[in-house]
Amino acid sequence: MKLTPDQIAQFDREGYLFFPGLFSAAETKTLTDAVPALYARREAYNVREKGKEAVRTNFAAHMVSEPFARLARHPRMVGPVEDLFGEKLYMHQFKINGKAAFDGDVWQWHQDYGTWFNDDQMPTERAMNVAIFLDDVTEFNGPLMFIPGSHKKGVIEAKHDLTTTSYPLWTVDNALIAQLVERAGGKNGGIVSPKGPAGSMILFHSCLVHASGSNLSPFHRVAVYLSLCAVSNHIRRFKRPEYIAHRDFTPIECLPDDCLLKDYPVEVPWKNGVPASAYETSLDPIVLAAAISS
Ligand code: SIN
Ligand code: MN
Repeated sequence: MKLTPDQIAQFDREGYLFFPGLFSAAETKTLTDAVPALYARREAYNVREKGKEAVRTNFAAHMVSEPFARLARHPRMVGPVEDLFGEKLYMHQFKINGKAAFDGDVWQWHQDYGTWFNDDQMPTERAMNVAIFLDDVTEFNGPLMFIPGSHKKGVIEAKHDLTTTSYPLWTVDNALIAQLVERAGGKNGGIVSPKGPAGSMILFHSCLVHASGSNLSPFHRVAVYLSLCAVSNHIRRFKRPEYIAHRDFTPIECLPDDCLLKDYPVEVPWKNGVPASAYETSLDPIVLAAAISS
């Protein structure tokens, strides 16, 4: 899938692009059907909501589940990002966020690149966030919110919040959010929240400030969030476990466009368990030659 010049200009101006219904109901179903078995596993890669059983986020499904491994190589998702960066990509992070009916908790205001810079030493913001809805997203089930144009601010000040939810996040304080929203139009467009059917996709800049409220509705809001990083911009430190911040910088080779409907062979190396090495961490910058050849 190619982006038009208008889409490229819009991405530059607003920091995101929304593709409602990009994947069909049949394509989305192959993914949705694989989620319960993933969420049921008692593994570190399933982070549950504070004090609850509901899964907040599941990491690295593309290493465990064939449908998600195929999604990770889907040309409709990878193609536009390769176009924008003019370079091959690798998978930096792969999450399936549950935002479960009644139990789904907030994601505080943040930029993703703040975390990738502070924790993973990713050199620049040349990494793209992709959200793919596995449920319909409405005003009721905790849609993602963006401050349009906030990516133009680059990396902004953030503090490491270890207590609000079950997942640590570098979050932006309320006073700064109020300023950014005002600058983006205040009540007139200063916050937007793309909503649409299951199968919709959003591309959003790694510096775009975003958040989502809790889900008090009886409707789940499962969505895949993955981060595609330009290969030359790979992370330089392994402070976080590999199931959270990946260390395989091999360029993604896409499968055919019908890969969610046909069982093309894919490798799922963590199908029977996560290797011990994926839990190892280091505060030292990595030795590049070793990391690239591994
Ligand atoms: C995220 O920012 O990583 C997730 C936000 C959400 O699931 O609403
Ligand atoms: Mn985020």
